[in-house]
Amino acid sequence: MSFDPKKMEFSRGELFDFHGVAMVEQFTKNWEKVQNFQARPDDILIATYPKAGTTWVSLILDLLYFGQTSPERQTSIPIHKRVPFLESTLPSNDAGLHLGTDVAENLTTSPRLIKTHYPVQFVPKSFWEQNCKIVYMARNAKDSMVSFFHFDRMMMTQPDPGDWNSYFHRFMEGQMVFGSWYDHVNNWWKKKQTYSNIHYMFYEDMIEDTGREIDKLCSFLCLSLSAEERKQILYGVQFDNMKRNKMANYSTLPIMDFKISPFMRKGKVGDWRNHFTVAQNEEFDEDYKKKMKDPTLELRTEI
Ligand code: A3P
Repeated sequence: MSFDPKKMEFSRGELFDFHGVAMVEQFTKNWEKVQNFQARPDDILIATYPKAGTTWVSLILDLLYFGQTSPERQTSIPIHKRVPFLESTLPSNDAGLHLGTDVAENLTTSPRLIKTHYPVQFVPKSFWEQNCKIVYMARNAKDSMVSFFHFDRMMMTQPDPGDWNSYFHRFMEGQMVFGSWYDHVNNWWKKKQTYSNIHYMFYEDMIEDTGREIDKLCSFLCLSLSAEERKQILYGVQFDNMKRNKMANYSTLPIMDFKISPFMRKGKVGDWRNHFTVAQNEEFDEDYKKKMKDPTLELRTEI
């Protein structure tokens, strides 16, 4: 990927193998600094495979911690600045290259909320050493694939997605930015068995009952909410309200082309049915059984 901040020209990244994971340079070129990032004990890491609802969880956490104390940030600071993307080296129109590590280090809030899409083995060691709380959100593979496809069409720094059928096969082969969905969700799930400070959530549960899932999140974070705060948060994080919210819908980022597809696209469980052919679905299910052997990790493709 290359970027000229004056001309605002972007070129799409190219996948390469990085320590066994398909990546683009945008998320590897700050590797040393990311690996040496000094986490603090009260940092909260939001970890997801792309398109699992990262922004949704990010806004919820930001509202939980700062919604009452600094309500002005909700209308003045875009979510990607409130919850920096650790490994990103995103081009920005104001200050050249934005390093996620710099944005995180410059946060003045406590706790710091930090986002990553890294597979578990890439997470900087200080997060484990400091026993930081981690919120992981998973989304079923079929809807993740569809959402990622539309994202790759509109996000001008992502590799060109090509046609749907080739994308479908590349997803199953793990040839996506941040690698294999299967490895990501499985390895984070395994990590939960040995590291108790992970709260593993599911997008489908959030769609089914957002209030219930926020209550579980609060109990993990040792937070208590008044009925009024809970109501306000539930309202603010509804799909339609987030879609309208310029500070949460990424409309301030010039590298996304909303004419191709909006960031807040559909927000549904089961949109895969509008994309998968019957034959693709059979091929997918057959392959899925071979890759997803752990019966304790169940992801719902409909609710
Ligand atoms: P779709 O493309 O299926 O609509 P991420 O933030 O990890 O990139 O995930 C983006 C996906 O989460 C998009 O999925 C987006 O619409 C969905 N999403 C974001 N906020 C949501 C909300 N409040 N309710 C439901 N889905 C939401």
